Parts: sequence; structure tokens; C-alpha cells
Amino acid sequence: MPEYFSINGARRLEGQVTISGAKNAAVAIIPATILAGEPCILENLPQIQDVRSLQKILQKLGAQVEITAGGCMTIDPRGIQTRDATFPEISSMRASYYLLGAMLAAYGEVELALPGGCVIGARPIDQHIKGFRALGAKVYLDEDRNVLRAQAARLRGAEIFFDVVSVGATINVMLAATRAEGTTVLHNVAKEPHIVDTANFLNMMGATVRGAGTDEIRVHGTTKMRGCAYSIIPDQIETGTYMIAAAATRGDVIIKNVIPTHMEAVCAKLLESGARVMQGDDGKEFFLRVTQTERPRAVNVKTMVYPGFPTDLQQPMMAYLCTADGLSVITENIFENRFNHVKELRTLGASVNVNKRIAKVKGVSNLRGGDVYATDLRAGASLIVAALSAQGTTRVHNIGYIDRGYEYLEQKLRALGAELERVKG
Ligand code: UD1
Repeated sequence: MPEYFSINGARRLEGQVTISGAKNAAVAIIPATILAGEPCILENLPQIQDVRSLQKILQKLGAQVEITAGGCMTIDPRGIQTRDATFPEISSMRASYYLLGAMLAAYGEVELALPGGCVIGARPIDQHIKGFRALGAKVYLDEDRNVLRAQAARLRGAEIFFDVVSVGATINVMLAATRAEGTTVLHNVAKEPHIVDTANFLNMMGATVRGAGTDEIRVHGTTKMRGCAYSIIPDQIETGTYMIAAAATRGDVIIKNVIPTHMEAVCAKLLESGARVMQGDDGKEFFLRVTQTERPRAVNVKTMVYPGFPTDLQQPMMAYLCTADGLSVITENIFENRFNHVKELRTLGASVNVNKRIAKVKGVSNLRGGDVYATDLRAGASLIVAALSAQGTTRVHNIGYIDRGYEYLEQKLRALGAELERVKG
């Protein structure tokens, strides 16, 4: 039977929580190890479903993958003989598309089942394909099998201007360009923290990637890369989720192992809503402390590419604003269909109206418990935030989505005083 979370809400979150390694960096860096052609050791990996799925995928391709204590993974890609990445696990997670860039660069050929993952709009990959083609690859779509085939006897550096700013396309084409002859210049790229982290990892393996974190990335191709040990950055979205949950429960939480500069847009909105946000350094790591004692003020939020307010936190932020004083207007600029959580929030008593990409949230004084269903990972996070702040008991169903991206969620929340249980349905 499927599991669900049972949450007795309206408990103030208090105490300390330590943030795990970044999911979105991990799902790019794990496939990127293929480029090393030698063993790599990854540290600070989150123990989440997406990481376990990638472990299985690499093993099925022929790599040796071991997870050791404390979130370490050793990957030896030398056993990979096949170029066929069309087995079912591949299409079960969207980020498996990074195998396109990595395998194309390492082996000159790949066949990939098209990605699944969270259902938040159409999510095309035309920009990835445009980039590979510009590097000289032949890319065919087999519509009957839903499989993409990319092949190149050799890749050549090129100048590529992306039509839209895409995290996935930036990383994927950056991976492929590490092995192209000459220099590749990528314009209009995404600047998210995990892009910089992936570029740093590629450089540790011997690639020459410059400019990650700006609008333009230059990659000087190389023929040989090497294994390395690399520690993944803390998760920006998990950090934001706990910051928002602290404020939503009128709590007081110290969030450790964070990179405060990644959180500026979220800090600004929480401050605007009346929460207190303090940044500190305990000598070992940075932390953020979020305190909220009163009913928040309504604020307007527009999702933007980094360093703007992240779309992945739009849903948890909406749950927080459901009990704010006044009308909050939330504009979703990245994905056209990222309001699936609204219907569920209404079940808990929220007053939200959606018109295309704009949600108007009229704050109510309290949410109340009920049965709600996650439709994607961050919608799930939104329902957890809502349930933590709601009066009474909420059962959050479809928690498989949440397990894809939040390490030790129930342990971390319980340590902060939440009453939450994973129940077998
Ligand atoms: C990544 C993140 C996801 C986050 C999103 C936006 C990972 C594994 N996932 O997803 O958590 O919500 O960035 O910050 O890192 N687009 C195109 N053509 C393309 C690619 C994208 O039109 O070829 C459009 C998409 O439909 C979307 C926008 O560009 O509207 C941004 O998508 P993108 O940045 O690519 O998101 P993902 O990489 O899928």
C-alpha cells in the first residue's frame, strides 16, 4: 500500500536542522562522472530517491557504483560498454537527460528514453538538442519508441545562443562541450548554483569551463579527463523549504550548512513578510536563523531565473502566504503549469484564485487539516508546509514525489518539534 504522511499541525518549529547536498547538483554530477573514464568519489550526496535511481541507472549501464556511509558514492564508469540508455528506470526521472551530454561526449553515441519526472508543464528539450546539433552531433527522435538518439564521430566547439534560459540545456551542452574540439561559447545560459557546482566538478576532472554563474560560459575542449573526489554544495531548495516552514509555523529555526548568497531572494521575501532572518557563521559553517512570531504580511512573488525567486520555492511560499494578512499575488514565470498544488491547498481552507500564470492568495487566519495529494515534488513540499501550519491533522498522500528530493524529511522535521508520521496506507 502507498505510504502517506500524517501531520498534526499548528506546532511551532524550533531548533536546528542541517541541510543535505543539493539534489539538482547531484543529478547532474553523477552522470558527469562518466566523462572521467576513471573512478570518482562524490561526497555530501543526499540520500534521496533520485540519487538511488541514478545509482541503479549507472549500474545497469555497466558502471560500478557503491554508496558508503555519510552520503559518499564511488563511481567507476570503466565498465560501461553499452550506449543504450532506454530501459524503464531512465524515463522514470527527468534528470536522466544529462546522460545525453555525458555519453555523447564520452562515447560519441547514445540512445536515451525520453525523460519523465515531475509533471509541471510541457518541459521541452529543444534547447538541449539545438546545442548538441551545433556541436556537430546528429540527433534523431524516434517518436514511436519515445527515444532520442545522438551520435557524433567528433564534436566541434561552436558558438551557441540559447533561445530560453534553461538549467538543463546549459548543463547538458556544457557536458558535451568538454570533449569538443576547440572552444564552445554558450550565451544566455542559466546561472543557478548547481550550474556553478557542475562546472567546478568538471574542472576538477580536468575540463576547462569558465564563466559558470554568469550569462556566458566558455568551454575549452579536452581529450582526456580524470577521476577526482568532489563534495556537493548544500541544497538551495531544501534550505528555502525549511526557512519557509519555520516562518509558516511562526517558529524559530537555525538552518545549518547553507550558502547564504544562494538564498538572497528568499531572505528578501521572508523579511518583507515580517519574518526575521539572521545570517551567521559558527566557525565551521554558515547558518541562517528564521524567526516569525506574528501573522505574516502578504507579499507579491514573481519566479525568475537565478538570482531571482526560484520556481521550486513558489509552491512552499504559497502555502506560507495562505495565512498572511492581505492579498499576495504570485506570478509563475518559469513553468506554465505549476499551480497543481492550489486545489489541494484549497482543501485545507486556502483562498487562492488562478488565472493563467498568476495566483491571487487571499490570506485566511488558519488552514485546517484534511486529505491532500502531491502532484509533483515541490507541490509535495508545499503541502508539507501547509500541513505543518494547519490546525488539526493532515494526511499528505503521493509522498513518493517528496522522497525524490528531501533527505530524512520526517527525522529532520520531528527534531524541530513537528508531529509527523510516515504511515503505510
Ligand atoms: C531545472 C531544475 C528544476 C527547476 C528548473 C527551473 C534540475 C534537475 N531541475 O529543471 O528543479 O524547477 O530547472 O529552475 O536541475 N525549456 C525549453 N526548452 C528546453 C529546455 C527548457 O523551452 O530545451 C523551458 C522549460 O519549458 C521551462 C524553462 O525553459 O519553461 C526552464 O526550464 P529548465 O531551466 O530547463 O528546467 P529544467 O532543467 O527542466
